[in-house]
Amino acid sequence: MTKRNRVRKTFAVPELKTLLGGISPRQFFAEYWQKKPLLVRQAVPNLDQVLDGQGLFDLACQEDAESRLVRPVRGNWQRQLGPFEPEQLACLPKKDWSLLVSGVNMLVPEGDALLNAFNFAPYARLDDLMVSFAPPGGGVGPHFDSYDVFLIQGLGRRRWEISGQDDLELVDDCPLRILKRFRVDQSWELEAGDMLYLPPKYAHNGVALTDCMTWSIGFRAPSAQEMATEFLVYMQDSVCMDGLYADPDLGYSRQPGKIPGLMVDRLKDMIRAIRWTDHDMEDFIGRYLSDPKPNVFFEPPARPASFTRFHKLTCERGLSLDARSRMLYLGRIFFVNGERLEAEQEIRPKLRQLADQRQLPPAAFDEVFTSLLYEWYRAGYLQTGR
Ligand code: SIN
Ligand code: CO
Repeated sequence: MTKRNRVRKTFAVPELKTLLGGISPRQFFAEYWQKKPLLVRQAVPNLDQVLDGQGLFDLACQEDAESRLVRPVRGNWQRQLGPFEPEQLACLPKKDWSLLVSGVNMLVPEGDALLNAFNFAPYARLDDLMVSFAPPGGGVGPHFDSYDVFLIQGLGRRRWEISGQDDLELVDDCPLRILKRFRVDQSWELEAGDMLYLPPKYAHNGVALTDCMTWSIGFRAPSAQEMATEFLVYMQDSVCMDGLYADPDLGYSRQPGKIPGLMVDRLKDMIRAIRWTDHDMEDFIGRYLSDPKPNVFFEPPARPASFTRFHKLTCERGLSLDARSRMLYLGRIFFVNGERLEAEQEIRPKLRQLADQRQLPPAAFDEVFTSLLYEWYRAGYLQTGR
């Protein structure tokens, strides 16, 4: 992770009660999740102490950050993708643009902590943290997102207008997904620390009133099309069929260009014989959900500790998953960064603890478990210390 000297270490992730404005996660799921918006005043104070505008500019210039600059140009919207040159960002106008950086949880430790504060929802649903900066008038226009989102005001003030409209028609020929029509139902001014939850497909428009930063906690919801395509790709590697087309009963034809009906029937039978089991589907689901995004690369330690030293370090300091690691489980099967692990019964409780808490306290683990952790340490999936 990048070290930025602009970060002052006074940020502490708020307690769940503060985060959800006094309601319990149970109540949040029952009344708001995927149902209706929720505004929480002062849900996450002090984010301005984690990252300021210059801190976000620095991230937008990094090769490993996914950044974009959005601004209105001659009645249309323009979108430019990063990484940017510092000079490019330094000469932007005083109004009406927005710089957005995705995956900030993988670039800033406090961002990772903030994203994981939302683990009252399963990690399988949590996606990433995006942070934007906009001067007065800046925003990305009226739009909707296909997933649930928590919009947290990190710095300055922004007016959020929202609409429960069903009309989700988008402007044609626009590089951004902008709503053709936007009918405002409700509007609020958010100050630093305030948070707005929106269900999927809820129309919204955020306009900066001062220099402002918004931290968006996004969730993932794969489309049926994506599931189908990805599953078929997975099946391509795991399907194993016997047999070869044969036609001892083939007869003479005067139309050699025609595909014989008999051949079509037999090939259809071959395709119909493709089967998948619950095991295949669950294996696919675990690998798919734990697979990091294509732009994610792990950094193995430059000078890895020896096995003995690693063991000593875990005893003294414990360990934590790298911010890029995705670790999930389904029954007794574990999935780490797209890999499947069928663990021995004795180590399953510890693996579950690691997957749930993303860290393990200092302890003298046995050799089998330490060997597994050591492998992950060498791959860059986890680090010693917490
Ligand atoms: C922003 O940060 O400007 C956009 C966030 C959103 O509307 O989802
Ligand atoms: Co949005």
